Amino acid sequence: MSMPRAVKIVEVGPRDGLQNEKQRVPTAVKIDLVNQLSEAGFPNIEATSFVSPKWVPQMADAAEVMAGITRRPGTLYSVLTPNLKGFEAALEARADEVVIFGAASEAFSQRNINCSIAESVARFEPVARAAKDQGLRLRGSISCALGCPYQGEVPVTSVVDVVQRFAALGCDEIDIADTIGVGTAKRTHEIFAAVTKVFPREQLSGHFHDTYGQAIANIYASLLEGIVIFHASVAGLGGCPYAKGATGNVATEDVLYLMNGLGIETGVDLQRVTAIGEFISTAIGRPNGSRAGRALLAKAKESQGSQ
Ligand code: HMG
Ligand code: MG
Repeated sequence: MSMPRAVKIVEVGPRDGLQNEKQRVPTAVKIDLVNQLSEAGFPNIEATSFVSPKWVPQMADAAEVMAGITRRPGTLYSVLTPNLKGFEAALEARADEVVIFGAASEAFSQRNINCSIAESVARFEPVARAAKDQGLRLRGSISCALGCPYQGEVPVTSVVDVVQRFAALGCDEIDIADTIGVGTAKRTHEIFAAVTKVFPREQLSGHFHDTYGQAIANIYASLLEGIVIFHASVAGLGGCPYAKGATGNVATEDVLYLMNGLGIETGVDLQRVTAIGEFISTAIGRPNGSRAGRALLAKAKESQGSQ
C-alpha cells in the first residue's frame, strides 16, 4: 500500500497527557494549552474527560476547561464520556465529539471503568444513541489492543470483537490503543490487517504510548496498513492512571518530524508545536518528553548563542 498524502493528528495532551499528573494542573494552564494547540491548527483536540472525579481527580474541572477555551473553527473538541452522566455534561459543555472507552482485555476494563467489557458496551449504548440524536460525533477507544498490564497477551480476535461491538454502536471513528506501549511493528501490522476487514481503515486510528520506544515504528507500520489518523501528545505528556509504568503517548513533535520526513501533510507546524511542548513542560515542571522537540530547542539555543 502506498503512503497517504495527508494524515489527521489528534492532539490528546490536554486529556491523556494531563490526566496522569499527580499535582493539580491549574485550570487556566489547561485552557491556555488547548488554545495554543487550536491556534497551531490541530483539526481535533481531546480537551478533557467527563469522568468520575473520584476516579480521576485531575479531570474534575472539565466543565470549566470547556467553558474557558476559545473555539477555533476547524478544530473539533473531543471529550471522554464513560456513561450518560458524562454525556449530559459533555453536551452542556458543547463538545463536538464524545469518546466512549472500552478495552480489549477484561482485567483492564474492570480496573479502568469498573465493569466487564459486555457491561461497558451496554453502558455505552444509551451514550451512543444520545450522541446520534444530538448530532455529535462518536468515537470509540479500545485500550490494551496490543497488550495488557494485568493479563499480558491480548488475542487479535478480542480486539476485532470490540471493534465490531463499537461499529454496531455507530462509532464514526475507532481507536486502536496501545495503552502500555508494548506493541511492536509486527503486532501493529497483525492488528490492523485484522480490524480493517471489519471496519473502514480510514476511520481507524492508532493511539500509541511510547513506553518501550516503539511508537514511531508502530505508526510507520500503521501507515503501511493505510491508517491515516494518529493520536499524539505534545511533549509526550502522560501515562495512564490504571496502567502502572506506562509512559505518555508518543510525542506530537516526534510524529510531526516523521510525517515531515515522509512528505505527509498534517496541517500543523513542527516549530510551533515544539514551543507549545516547552510551554507545558515548564508549566507543570516536567522534563520535555519529545526527542524531536528537545533536539530542535537545543539547536535553536545554539544558533542564538552563536549570533
Ligand atoms: P463507578 O464507581 O462504578 O460508578 O465508576 P458509579 O456510577 O457508582 O459512580 C461513582 C461516583 O462517581 C458517583 O458519585 C457518581 O455520581 C460519580 P457519588 O454518588 O459517589 O458521589 N460519577 C460521575 N461524576 C462525574 N462524571 C461522570 C460520572 N460517573 C459517575 N461521568 C466510572 C464507573 C466509569 C464512572 C469510573 O470508573 C470512571 O469515571 N472511570 C474513568 C477512568 C478514566 O478516566 N481513565 C482514564 C481514561 S481511559 C485512557 O486513558 C485510555 C485511552 O487513552 C486509550 C489508551 O491509551 O488505552 C482512552
Ligand atoms: Mg492513552
